Amino acid sequence: MIRVEDLWRTYRMGDHELHALREVDEEIADGEHVAIMGPSGSGKSTLLNVIGCLDSPSRGRYFLDGVDVAGLSDEALADIRLRRIGFIFQSFHLIPRLSALENAALPMVFAGIAPAERRKRAAAALDAVGLADRAHHRPSELSGGQKQRVAIARATIMSPRLLLADEPTGNLDSAPALRSSTCCRRSIAKAGRSSS
Ligand SMILES: Nc1ncnc2c1ncn2[C@@H]1O[C@H](COP(=O)(O)OP(=O)(O)O)[C@@H](O)[C@H]1O
Ligand SMILES: [Mg+2]
Repeated sequence: MIRVEDLWRTYRMGDHELHALREVDEEIADGEHVAIMGPSGSGKSTLLNVIGCLDSPSRGRYFLDGVDVAGLSDEALADIRLRRIGFIFQSFHLIPRLSALENAALPMVFAGIAPAERRKRAAAALDAVGLADRAHHRPSELSGGQKQRVAIARATIMSPRLLLADEPTGNLDSAPALRSSTCCRRSIAKAGRSSS
């Protein structure tokens, strides 16, 4: 479902160029679970951002389900990010003013799902990550591990076919990190989707 060909991402820094990605060729099939490993600065986030349609390559092609992403409009890309891709960030990226429940439900707001259905599904998603009793807390009232589990609930709420996690446990101590990755694996197993 994912194919990248001769992918480059170049940042221009003043008058010199920095190649964060250089000639990346990769194929990931439906249902595959892939870990991208490498030292800090090796281009992992850059690659995930391109695969997640948050960034475009400087050169090369990216096919998602056989479709060349470069040819899609901003609107079509936004729809793909909403319906087909779940993204879990190292620094959570929750909305501070919203409760855990509202954060988990946010993609459904953009998808036009009715409020009652949103509440029901977000509550079930929070329950699935062990946060039923924190539904009305804001992110500032949650621990790092709890925040990441809200982010997992949000990333999986639309049942995306592709779940991307960029060092999701990088900001957590080992116990909450283990709990978050268990949640992640469970969501993936339940959905039977690809992840990386
Ligand atoms: N917006 C940016 N502008 C310039 N250079 C960047 C930018 N983002 C990342 N880089 C550089 O690209 C390289 C890859 O970064 P990144 O993908 O974040 O690596 P990783 O996630 O593996 O730590 C690094 O050298 C980083 O400094
Ligand atoms: Mg990174």
